[in-house]
Parts: sequence; structure tokens; C-alpha cells
Amino acid sequence: MAWTGRCPDCGEWNSLVETAKPPKVTTGGKAPAAAGPAGKPVRLADVRAIETARFPTGIGELDRVLGGGIVPGSLVLLGGSPGIGKSTLTGMATANLQANGIDTLYVSGEESTAQVRLRAERLGPAALEVRALAENSLETILATIEAEKPKVVVIDSIQTMHRSDLNGAPGSVGQVREAASALAEVAKRLEIAVILVGHVTKEGSLAGPRVLEHLVDCVLQFEGERERTYRTLRAIKNRFGATSEVGVFEMRSGGLTEVSDPSARFVEEATGALGSVILTSMEGTRPVLVEVQALVSPSELEIPRRVVNGIDRNRLSMILAVLARHAGIGLGTADVFVNVVGGVRVDEPGADLAVALAVVSAQKGEPLQGDGGRPLACFGELGLTGDLRFVGHADRRIAEAVKFGLGPVVGPRSGELLSGLTGCGSVREAVRSALGGSNQQIAA
Ligand code: TYD
Ligand code: MG
Repeated sequence: MAWTGRCPDCGEWNSLVETAKPPKVTTGGKAPAAAGPAGKPVRLADVRAIETARFPTGIGELDRVLGGGIVPGSLVLLGGSPGIGKSTLTGMATANLQANGIDTLYVSGEESTAQVRLRAERLGPAALEVRALAENSLETILATIEAEKPKVVVIDSIQTMHRSDLNGAPGSVGQVREAASALAEVAKRLEIAVILVGHVTKEGSLAGPRVLEHLVDCVLQFEGERERTYRTLRAIKNRFGATSEVGVFEMRSGGLTEVSDPSARFVEEATGALGSVILTSMEGTRPVLVEVQALVSPSELEIPRRVVNGIDRNRLSMILAVLARHAGIGLGTADVFVNVVGGVRVDEPGADLAVALAVVSAQKGEPLQGDGGRPLACFGELGLTGDLRFVGHADRRIAEAVKFGLGPVVGPRSGELLSGLTGCGSVREAVRSALGGSNQQIAA
């Protein structure tokens, strides 16, 4: 196909992709029939149930996110930015699987087998038992899988795979889609679990993994900042388990270690300083306490800066607007920085109040303190009308904070009486309560 940079129909640049031609159907000169032969519907009860046996990877946090282990015949996409630890995680998982007698194959399109070995050495002797293949050719990889029939295959990464009769470069949408669907076919037919590693740029914008989301059974996103040690693993889609389940890891010298009680870590490290508050967030089905920090400083720019780490930037804009309109706290001439400590990402509306209170504390120059000088814990969603809205699992959020001695928690007022909660109906009330201390009367 000739290179066409711009779609003649919609005017978008670089939106055209090459796809393999479908086989020609000859109709003998006649017009194609309107309908083909009829299919045979089956009673669902007569369909052979999907094998629910799973291969546990031996990495508790990964297994939890997968829904109990990797399902044979399934396709898992593991996305994340370069250097986050995708190869490390898959290396560790294959090592455990191999040690449990489940045959694995680690296909690397980015590194030589010597480089893969180097990483495996850091991960321990079991990792050295994994069989590796350094290859980019999709045809060779498919043939190898057919010949070796491993139970679990890692393709690191899907963007480096290349089918020779398509002339798109590796990583192009056409190549990535082609490679993934060919691998999906082998996976289903031979009941092999395939983990596709995919790079995502910082903006999560790379076309590669995104086009695969509908094709795979499970999409895992590996997040965190490369410079920080904490990593979160999140299921965005999972045909065999719950989504929004989150695993927390820490990158150490011997690979990734599971952080099975992240709250303890984050609370221990919490500063309780000016502009700091503890958010009682939900990560999937698990409550996690994280520290949210804010810095407010006079801006020298026409349009002040809004810098976020771990929360959505538009969400911050919304929160600042609500604070200005409904709590009388204007930040129009100030730079605002918000950071979720530890490189954690919180993607839930329940984080609103924590962001708001951290910002208010930073702006007023007053630290927020809970009972006994402990850090203040809070949760709740801000409505555009300045109301503080209820969010799911309030009881579990409160219980988690209380467990770490951080009660009472500032949160939305509830119909039922929840002990350990300082219920507030609006953001104004929550600000007053947080700044005034828990023993002061709250003016309505
Ligand atoms: P890697 O798994 O190669 O990242 P990705 O495949 O997502 O690009 O590793 C990421 C970083 O982790 C790398 O800079 C080295 C570091 N690392 C450790 O700190 N400890 C270890 O045991 C290993 C294997 C890697
Ligand atoms: Mg890698």
C-alpha cells in the first residue's frame, strides 16, 4: 500500500493502518447470496463450561488482580510505561510457574537472551529455569509455540512483533493487532495462557495496547513513577475476575516485593505537615490509606500552574472551582500542586475531599490534625453545588482509618449513624470541621 499520511475522508493524520487482505471469495460471476447456511444455536446448558482451573503465579498481589491466577487459554495484556517493571513482573511470574511444573516460554523482542538472563539472575535461581526466545518474527514465534506447547507464554513486548508479509513497522496498529489476534487464536486452540506486554507512553496514548483492549480477556495496567519504588497493578478489564482490583508492589534489588498491607506503609510515612491529609481510598475491594499533599504558592504566571501527581488534572480544576464558589477559598492567582505520596494513583471521586482539604491547609498555612495530633483522615466526593456526596464502602474506609488510630474520619454525612465518622453535608462544613479540630462545635 502506498503511504497515505492523511485520511481522505476524515482528514485525520496517521489514522490509516494496513490490514491483511481477506481471502478472495469467488461467486462464479453470480451476485453473492444474501444469506449463508444457517448456524446451529445451542442450549447454553449443553455448552462445555470454560475450564476454571487457574495457574497461580505465586505472586499474591498479581493473582488477586487476575482473580485467582492466570486462566489457561486466556490473553492478558500487561500495559505500563517503560522501566516500570513489566519484564520483572512477568519474569518472576514465569519463574514461579516453571518451578511448579507449568511449562513457560518467555519471548523477548526487545532484549537478547543474555539480557533476559541478566535480569533473571537478579530474580533468583528459579528464574533461570524459564525458557527464553529472543525473536521478533511472528511466524517463528507461532511455530515455536506449536512445537513446544508451553502452558504460559510471555510476549515482551507486543510492539516489537512483526509479521513479514505486512509492511507496517513493528508497533504500528496493523502489526500489533495482527500479532495479537494470531496469538489469541493459538491461545484458545491450544489452551495456552498468553501474557502480552505492552508499552504505554506517559499519557497512556500509544495506539498499540489500546487497540488490543477488546481483543484480550484481561487488561492489567502497571503504574507508578519510575523514580519511586511503589508500583500499583490494576485490572481495567477482566473476563475472569473483578475489575478495579489493585495490587501494590515495591521495586527492590531482588525484583518486585508485594506490599500486602499498603496502608501501614503509607501511614507510617505520612508527614502530617502543612498541606497534608490522609485519604481513605478504596482500591478495588480493599481500603487503602494514602497521603495526599498540596502546595499553594503565589503564581508569577498569567495562567497559574496546576500540577498533579496521582490524580486527574481536570478533577483538580473542578475541586478548585468548588472551593472558590462554595467555600470562599479562591486560588485564581496561585500555583497549585497536588501529589499522592508514594507514586500511587487514586482514580475515584471519593478522593475529592482529601484534595480539597490538602489545598485548603496549604493555602491557609494551617496543618490538619485529627484526634491526638494524629494526621487527619477523610474521604468524600464533591458535588458541583458544594455538597459533600456519599461514596461506596464508607464503613470499610472508616474502619481502615480507625484501625490505624486515625478516627474520627471527616466524610459525608450518612443516613445511618457510623461511628468514627465526622459527617459533613457540604465542603464548607468539612473545611470548617477539618481546620477547627474535631473537638470544636461545627457551625451549620
Ligand atoms: P523492567 O522490568 O525491565 O521494566 P519494563 O519491562 O517495564 O521496561 O525493570 C524496570 C526497572 O527495575 C529497571 O530500571 C531496573 C529495576 N530493577 C530493580 O530495581 N530490581 C530488580 O530486581 C530488577 C530485575 C529490576
Ligand atoms: Mg521490559
